[in-house]
Amino acid sequence: MAILSLEMVLTLTAFLLYYLYYKKFKFFTIVEKLDEKNIKNKLPRGKCPPSYPNGWYRLCRSGELQPGEVKEIKLCGRHIAYYRGTDKQVYAVAAYCPHMGANLGIGGQVKFRSCIECPFHGWTFDGKSGLCVNSEQLEPKIVTTYCYPDIERVTKNQKGEYIQKIAEGEVKIKTYLVKEVKGIVYVWLHSKEAKPWYDVVSEESDHLTLRAESINYVNCHIQEIPENGADMRHFDYIHASAMDIIPHWLDSDFLKEMTHPVPRCRQYQKQLFDQYFTNKELIPYLNVLLLDGYVILFNRFKFHAIWATGFQMGPSTVALYVKSAIFEVLFKQSIQPVEKFTQKVYHTVFTNGYLPYWFSAYLLHAELRQVLFDVKLWNAKIFSEILRYNLKTYSDQALLQWRQWYSQFYDGAAEFEKGLDKLEW
Ligand code: FES
Ligand SMILES: [Fe+2]
Repeated sequence: MAILSLEMVLTLTAFLLYYLYYKKFKFFTIVEKLDEKNIKNKLPRGKCPPSYPNGWYRLCRSGELQPGEVKEIKLCGRHIAYYRGTDKQVYAVAAYCPHMGANLGIGGQVKFRSCIECPFHGWTFDGKSGLCVNSEQLEPKIVTTYCYPDIERVTKNQKGEYIQKIAEGEVKIKTYLVKEVKGIVYVWLHSKEAKPWYDVVSEESDHLTLRAESINYVNCHIQEIPENGADMRHFDYIHASAMDIIPHWLDSDFLKEMTHPVPRCRQYQKQLFDQYFTNKELIPYLNVLLLDGYVILFNRFKFHAIWATGFQMGPSTVALYVKSAIFEVLFKQSIQPVEKFTQKVYHTVFTNGYLPYWFSAYLLHAELRQVLFDVKLWNAKIFSEILRYNLKTYSDQALLQWRQWYSQFYDGAAEFEKGLDKLEW
């Protein structure tokens, strides 16, 4: 009896360990529910820059979209349907069908390798060209287009017609440029439909494995989130509990400033810079932040616990590499502007394969704890259009420079926003 119960205890423990180790932590996620109350009851926000800066935005994780799978997203004032063709490529198109407005991303089906079929009446669009096609041969469908001369009042035109023929020919849907880099799918969104003027930066993280991800909704302007990394002063207040963190913000002269006191760290940062900055054309679209974390024991002995190098890449993505004596981790932050003051924020954790799963879950928790201190502030603050800087302090100069740098992503964004359909859903 006693032996049996020992066996039972051991089996139960084994199951428990299995559950904890593999089931719970293998790909660990923390997903916050969208708090409609928080989102809808908006505070005054102050005067803000336009809501949707131009750039590459995260669409999804690669693993979330299998061949033949169709999804839709509301992103930066656009409704986008996206899918993975049977040719394994990801395609993104404007969600609404030019025939009668059905949402292709809801119930649409992948056809002819790269096409999506509308769930309403079967019109099929090629994700590459945007053309409406008739068959496997992708020959374009020719249609006649009619419309109301005056939709809002429904009055006749001079010919006495309530509805008039406006065109005949091929019909097309808008397509978006998509790139898949290291397990994340990005879409290019530009207010003036300009071609990408910077590339999605690929992080050399092959030696790290995807381990965990969190999703949070934040009620603020998109800029307030990445701005946080350049805001050195706030580390002393908001994140003081983390460790003794010393941030350094570097401008484009950063290579000269790489004089970290710890040689191993210097070496590591140099290696990261080499990865990111081999393409000199990319430099204007990247921003760099260095953080050192110290642990002080007995109020006396100071140890370098972590050193972190963050790359802000365009308006919505940050890659933060953290190295310590025993592990390395890449925190990837991606922001998806859902609407004007609603940001969906992802933190994705990549770390060494040899670390136990629970440890990567712990890392996500540790990072999220810090993020939530910021979230509390972001949710309740206004955007401060006017900043009162003390330019004698390096930290205020840094913030000013950062804002200057970020403004490059707003070209045409104000006009785009004005033209958006007021009817949001
Ligand atoms: S609405 Fe798409 S085919 Fe009719
Ligand atoms: Fe912060």
